[in-house]
Amino acid sequence: MSAEIFEKLKIIPNCIYETIFTTYNTDFEPNAAPIGVSTPDMKKIIAKLYTSSQTYRNILEKKCAVINITNDLSLFYKTTIDKKSLDKETIFKKSKNVAAPILIPASTYIEANVESIQSIDKNRFKIIFRIVHAEIMDPCATPICRAPNLLLESIIHATRIEIYARNGEQKKAQQLINQVKKYREIINRIAKGTNYESLMNKTWKKVQQVQI
Ligand SMILES: Cc1cc2nc3c(=O)[nH]c(=O)nc-3n(C[C@H](O)[C@H](O)[C@H](O)COP(=O)(O)O)c2cc1C
Repeated sequence: MSAEIFEKLKIIPNCIYETIFTTYNTDFEPNAAPIGVSTPDMKKIIAKLYTSSQTYRNILEKKCAVINITNDLSLFYKTTIDKKSLDKETIFKKSKNVAAPILIPASTYIEANVESIQSIDKNRFKIIFRIVHAEIMDPCATPICRAPNLLLESIIHATRIEIYARNGEQKKAQQLINQVKKYREIINRIAKGTNYESLMNKTWKKVQQVQI
C-alpha cells in the first residue's frame, strides 16, 4: 500500500517533505506540529524529532501519529508561531485506525504506527513509522519539499551574479554567491541523490566559474 500512496503523491525516495503531525496529549487533547519526513525505501516513513517537543512525548506514549500532508502555509504558521489561533474544536477529527487526530483541512491523512525508535543524539530520536491507513482528499495536492524553491532561488541568483560581476558590483555578487552556497548545503541534506541535488550542483559549478 505504501508505495502506491507515495507514487500517487509524487513522493520520491530520500527527499524530505514538510508535513504536519497530529497526536494526542496524555489527556487526549489534540496537538499539531510541522515535522519533516522521508521514505528512503518507499515503504516506511522516517521522522527525526527533538525530544523537547510535545509531539515526541505524545508519540512515545501513544506509539502512533497522523501525518497530514498540506501545502497550505497558513497551517504551518498556525501550528508553530500562532498555536493559540488553532480552533481545536473544529480543525481536528478522530482518525479511524490510530489513537491520533486528523487535521481536517489537510489534503492527505496518513495514519501511522511507530515501528521503531532510535537515538540520534541526546536531543533527537529517529522514529520509523508503518502506514496503517491513508486517505487522499485532494488527488492534485503534493507535499511541500523545500528543494525546488531553493533550487529556483539559486538559478535566479546565478543569473544576477553574472550581471553584478560584469558591472563591477563585487559585494552584491559575493552576497548572492554566499546565499547559493547555503542553499546548496541545504539541498545536499534534504534531497540527497535526487535531480534537485544534481541540478543544484551544476548551478553551483556555474556560479563558481563567474570571475568576480
Ligand atoms: C516546516 C517545519 C518543519 C519542521 N520539522 C521538524 C522536524 O523534522 N523535527 C522536529 O523535531 N521539529 C521540527 N519542526 C519544529 C516543530 O514543528 C516545532 O518545534 C513545534 O513547535 C513543536 O511543537 P510541539 O511541541 O507541539 O510538538 C519543524 C518546523 C517547521 C515549521
